Amino acid sequence: MQKKVLILGFKGNLGQQLVKVFEKNYEVVACDREELDITKKKLVDKKIKNLKPDIIINAVAYNAVDKCEDDKKEYKLAKKINGEAPGALAQATLKNNAILIHYSSDYVFDGENENGYREGDNPNPINKYGETKLMGERAIMNLSEKGLKYYIIRTSKLFGPEGKSKGAKPSFFDIMLKLGEKPPYAKASDGKKDGIDVVDEEVSCFTYTPDIAKETKELIENNNPFGIYHVVNSGQCTWYEAAKELFEIADIGVKVSPVTSEKFPRPAKRPKYSVLLNTKLKPPRKWQDALKEYLSNK
Ligand SMILES: NC(=O)c1ccc[n+]([C@@H]2O[C@H](COP(=O)([O-])OP(=O)(O)OC[C@H]3O[C@@H](n4cnc5c(N)ncnc54)[C@H](OP(=O)(O)O)[C@@H]3O)[C@@H](O)[C@H]2O)c1
Repeated sequence: MQKKVLILGFKGNLGQQLVKVFEKNYEVVACDREELDITKKKLVDKKIKNLKPDIIINAVAYNAVDKCEDDKKEYKLAKKINGEAPGALAQATLKNNAILIHYSSDYVFDGENENGYREGDNPNPINKYGETKLMGERAIMNLSEKGLKYYIIRTSKLFGPEGKSKGAKPSFFDIMLKLGEKPPYAKASDGKKDGIDVVDEEVSCFTYTPDIAKETKELIENNNPFGIYHVVNSGQCTWYEAAKELFEIADIGVKVSPVTSEKFPRPAKRPKYSVLLNTKLKPPRKWQDALKEYLSNK
């Protein structure tokens, strides 16, 4: 008999790809906010009790990193979605003897370690969004002693086909492509040529959503031990380096200029180096190869 998978947040960037990968050989029940608001604990309990899924995948997120930094109401919502709901999901998972898969972020780390972060390294978030993601991780891990079967997959800088939900954010590459394909571009920092200024900071890893969705399925099917995993494509870069490679690969002749983050001040601090080191799974393909595939399918 086919195993039953409940995918939450299926209209999002990652959720869409999870459905594609799992529907090949699982019975998939996909929900988004309209069908099940995951902050409503009673509804979550009821849904899981009635459905009896073997696997629950939580791709729901509050992702407005800057909005929740200073705005108390937004921070409260971020805490509910990212921090508290995963705990309630974990309880329902445990009660129904299912497996929970949940996604977290490189933003749980402070970004002070130039060598990157291993799965077991100590988190220390430097912004409110990161705090809420860490709360979610801890709420799940607190139930591990009671026998909760879980995978927490930390990832960073997602890109891929755009999600279909209201709040799904376009990826960095899609934003750059839009800027690059629609002249006139913003003036570059040298003030002479038209071009795009891009922040040459925040070293981390890009992750192609079809790749992480596939990796998620393999993680379960290979019976990997429960715990925390880092799933990102191979290679690390700043935003500027990524934009330069994007325009080269896409063969778009636009001048890209490196600038510091001071040029684009934002409310939430970003980690300087948040490379997620994957020490448990086989290394995935390079982000440039995944990007080539994405662009050729566009
Ligand atoms: N995107 C990145 O670069 C990135 C980086 C690191 C980690 N991650 C993590 O990766 C995971 C997937 O992110 P993503 O970019 O695919 O997210 P996404 O595109 O924003 O999708 C999230 C989905 O969750 C839904 N949702 C929000 N609140 C909900 C609620 N209360 N109940 C039910 N559904 C709700 C959203 O619907 P609405 O649009 O209607 O709100 C949306 O469909 C998240 O855990 C995220 O933190 C993402």
